[in-house]
Amino acid sequence: MEKFNAKLAVPARERGKLAPIRMSHVVIGTNPENYEAMVEWYLTYFEGEIAYANDDVAFIGFDEEHHRVAIAAIPGLVRPPANSTGVNHFAFTYNDLDELLATYVRLKKEGIEPYWPILHGPTTSLYYKDPDQNRVEILCDNLKGEELLEFFTSGAFDENFMGIIFDPDDWIEQRKNGVSAEELTSRDKLPEGKTAWDMFRD
Ligand SMILES: [Fe+2]
Repeated sequence: MEKFNAKLAVPARERGKLAPIRMSHVVIGTNPENYEAMVEWYLTYFEGEIAYANDDVAFIGFDEEHHRVAIAAIPGLVRPPANSTGVNHFAFTYNDLDELLATYVRLKKEGIEPYWPILHGPTTSLYYKDPDQNRVEILCDNLKGEELLEFFTSGAFDENFMGIIFDPDDWIEQRKNGVSAEELTSRDKLPEGKTAWDMFRD
C-alpha cells in the first residue's frame, strides 16, 4: 500500500460530515455450553455489571454506555480456526499506565494473564484471550496530539511497527522504585538481529 505521511485525523463532524458519535458495543457469539464462562470472564475483565441477561444473551456495562459488550449464546456455533481472517481483537483504554498495571495485578489474582504485553509506542498494551480464545486488548495512551505525530514522522514505526515486549511485573517494580511512566514507555530500539515480527505473539 502507498505510504502516507502521518497526520492527526480530524473528527468527521469537525469536517462537516455526519459520522457516528461513538462506537457502541461488541457482541460476541458463543456456544451455549460456554455462555456462563464467557459472561463471568467479561464481568471480571471489565469490572462490569449485567444490565440485562437471560439464558440466551447478557448485556454487560462498565462505562457510560448502557452495554459495551454483550454475549449471545447461539446453538451450533463452532470456533473458527486460529488462522481465520476477520476481527483480530478489540481494545479498551485506561487513563494511564498505573491504571493499566493495577488492572494487570487485579486480573492476575483472578488467574487471568495476558498472552502479549507489548509497548507499541503510542500505546502500552496488554492482550488477553477470553475462554473462547477471542483476543481483547487493554491499553493506555503514551503519546497524544503532536507527540504522536512526532513519533510517526520520526520513522520509529517504519523501523518497528510492532513494538517491544515488556514484563509487566518488572514495570510494576520499577514504578515502585520511582521510575516514571514516561521513562518506561519510551520505546527502545529492536534488539540486535530482531525484526518487528519477532515481537509478535498470537
Ligand atoms: Fe490493538
